[in-house]
Formats: sequence, C-alpha cells, structure tokens
Amino acid sequence: MTKPLEGIKIIDFTHVQAGPACTQLLAWFGADVIKVERPGSGDVTRNQLRDIPDADALYFTMLNSNKKSLTLDTKKPEGKEVLEKLIRESDVLVENFGPGALDRMGFSWERLNELNPKMIVASVKGFSDGHHYDDLKVYENVAQCAGGAASTTGFWDGPPTISAAALGDSNTGMHLAIGILTALLGRDKTGKGQKVAVSMQDSVLNLCRVKLRDQQRLERVGYLEEYPQYPHGEFSDVVPRGGNAGGGGQPGWVLKCKGWETDPNAYIYFTIQGHAWEPICKALGKPEWINDPAYKTAEARQPHIFEIFGTIEGWLADKTKFEAVDILRQFDIPCAPVLTMKELANDPSLRASGTIVEVPHKKRGSYLTVGSPIKFSDMKPEVTASPLLGEHTDEVLTSLGYSKQDIFNLREVKAV
Ligand code: COA
Repeated sequence: MTKPLEGIKIIDFTHVQAGPACTQLLAWFGADVIKVERPGSGDVTRNQLRDIPDADALYFTMLNSNKKSLTLDTKKPEGKEVLEKLIRESDVLVENFGPGALDRMGFSWERLNELNPKMIVASVKGFSDGHHYDDLKVYENVAQCAGGAASTTGFWDGPPTISAAALGDSNTGMHLAIGILTALLGRDKTGKGQKVAVSMQDSVLNLCRVKLRDQQRLERVGYLEEYPQYPHGEFSDVVPRGGNAGGGGQPGWVLKCKGWETDPNAYIYFTIQGHAWEPICKALGKPEWINDPAYKTAEARQPHIFEIFGTIEGWLADKTKFEAVDILRQFDIPCAPVLTMKELANDPSLRASGTIVEVPHKKRGSYLTVGSPIKFSDMKPEVTASPLLGEHTDEVLTSLGYSKQDIFNLREVKAV
C-alpha cells in the first residue's frame, strides 16, 4: 500500500518532544524522515529516564518511530557540507532548537532558502518571533504557564496546575505538522518553499480558546454560571480555576464509584446534558425529579448542582466505574470511566484499532507506544521501531554519493 507522503524527504533536526512528535506523525504517513543527531550522544531523550541500561529510553523510542538516524556534527565544516547536500534534495527541514541556534550554525532561513528555494523550513520555538520573550528556551510546563492553561487548571483553592497532557510539546508538534502539510500543498501551486513557525505558547493558547471566551464573558457580566463558584462563591476579574467543571454548556463533574476509598481512580465523569435530564432521572431511579421545578431546568439545577452530584454519587456507591458506565450508556448519557494508563495499555479496543501498539526493538525487546490517532479508510499507518543512534548513517551518506572511503574520512574527523 503506498502512503500519501511517500517521496517527501524530511530532515528531522528535532529533539525532545515537540519536534519529534511532528516528524513521527509525518513518518507514519509515509515521509522519509532522516533524524540528524550529534555523533556520540544524539537526542538527549535517548538517555533520559532509562528503564533498561544501555538501551534507548522509552521517551525516545515512543517519539521517534519510523525514522532513520544520521549522526552528523553540523558545527564542523565537513558536517555542514553533508547537511548542505541533504538540504538540496529534501522537501522539508524541521527543527526545534533553542532561539538562534540554527542561525549560529550558519543555516539561517535566508541561507536555507538560497540552498533550496523549494524547501519548507518548519520551526518550533517557545514564543513567536518578535515576542518580548522570544529569547527564552521553553519546556512543556513553561509553555502551559505561558499559554493560559496553568492559570485555568486545577482547583480554586490550590495553585495553578499543570496538565499531564503534553499541551506544550506534542500539541505544538501537531500544529506544526498541519503547517507543514499546508505549505507542501502551497508549494504544489507556487513551486516555492516557505518558513512555517509555531510557538508553544500560541499552541497552548489555541487549546485554551474557551478560557479566553470566558474572560470576555466575565468582563461583560461579572460571573460565569457554569463554574462551581456560581452562584454561591466570588468572582474576581480573571477566569478562575474551575476544578472538574465542564467547559461548555453542560455541567459535569468527576464522581466517586464503588471502591473509591482504596482505588484513586474509581471515578467516572458524569455530564448533565440539558436535553438528557429525563433519561438521567430515569437511569438514577428519580422519576420525581423530571417535572420538579427545582430540577426541571438547567437554571433551576445550577444553585444546587453539587447536591445533585451528591445524590448521583449515592447511586454510584454500589457500582464500579465500568458497571456505572454500562448502565448510563443505555440512557445515552455522556460519561466515561476515569481510565488509568494500565487499563489503557491493556484495552483490547485500543489494541485492535492500532492506537496502542507493541513494537519490536533491536535492543529493548518490544515496547508499547501510542500509534496514529488518525485513522484512514485507505491506509493503516504502521509503527516501526525507532532507529539506534546513527543506524542509517552509511545508508544516507551513500545515497548522497559518498564512497566508503569518504565515509571513513568523515568518521576520522568525527563529523559523523
Ligand atoms: N551537531 C552539532 N551541534 C548540534 C547538533 C549537531 N548535530 N545538534 C544540535 N547542536 C547544537 C546546536 O547548534 C546548539 O548549539 P549552540 O547553542 O552552541 O548554538 C546546541 O546543540 C543545542 O541547543 P538547544 O536547542 O538550545 O539545546 P538545549 O538543551 O540548551 O535546550 C530546549 C533545549 C528544548 C529548551 C531548546 O531547544 C528550546 O527551547 N527549543 C525550542 C522550544 C522547544 O521545542 N522546546 C522543547 C519542547 S519538547
């Protein structure tokens, strides 16, 4: 089966998570992704949080599948020469170095564009070009704070909180992938490459869109009726942390199920969708609530929503999270068990769909990873192992026209 991105050659000058997540996605869809790494050490995540001595860490293997690895010291003249050759015949270069690193290496956008005017140059930085913080190096949690996620996540009586989801890293990588694919389509029309830049702050803020909505509503009316602070608590002039409240028009909360006293994940998320009130009452065995004026409308329920959630928890007390969801789904109520990583790793549906995949690896044995969350009718993205450091150096150099002797010479000067 041919893959849509087959024939697209990508220089993957990325490290850690944001950039690698982007190029891994493109590799799944068929692009020829060559990861350029510093000889001897490579991507820092190869060594971070290792669980097996002398084998690449899961942090690396789970973000670099389907790629080739070329070791190259791009600060040495011999290394620069190789990179220039590669640039001349590639479609895309993706990088997420600290601000100015590529320029210092001698590969500014202008220089890259001169070497290959058709090439798309895609970058992740912490802040966008020209931003007053654009000199800062940025990691995940820094981006979550800078992009508005931390100030709006957590409970109102606790500090700003970081989400476990990689809103700053992988999310930015996904934004970049969309930018690259758009630029490739643009190139088909114009014949020209372009620079694609995504900042982590912008990507986090893009996912916090509804919080900017709430800031404007708050400024206009002084309160936010879907937040737990309404109607009994106080609002300041900034969007508060709303705990586990639903962000849209339907109230929801994380509710205890059977076993919560000992199992920290014996919970479900329960949503009170306005038009589902009648089925909810039926599911809970509370038909008298259906037409009770204190319960009938969302407006009437809001002042005592936590008393309602308390009653639902009473109903849940003798049901596991899975039993509860199996009952509630029959009433068309939006809900889900709070699933652990262990449950997700062993979920037969996720295994069958290719969302959780087991990948054989030369040094680790096999490891679990998250496969493509995007499914296609004409293509099943397959996940292959991440490359060992420099595994494809000879192959890539040979394809660029280097002889065995040339490669030996490059090794002698430690350029590869
Ligand atoms: N050969 C020679 N030198 C290489 C090389 C290679 N193959 N690959 C990288 N380098 C050099 C770079 O040129 C740079 O050198 P310089 O600073 O002397 O110019 C250096 O290695 C790496 O720089 P940097 O990217 O700043 O690494 P860092 O470990 O100090 O910082 C980050 C890491 C992630 C904080 C930083 O890269 C960053 O802010 N990136 C942008 C935002 C981002 O993607 N964040 C991470 C999200 S997971």
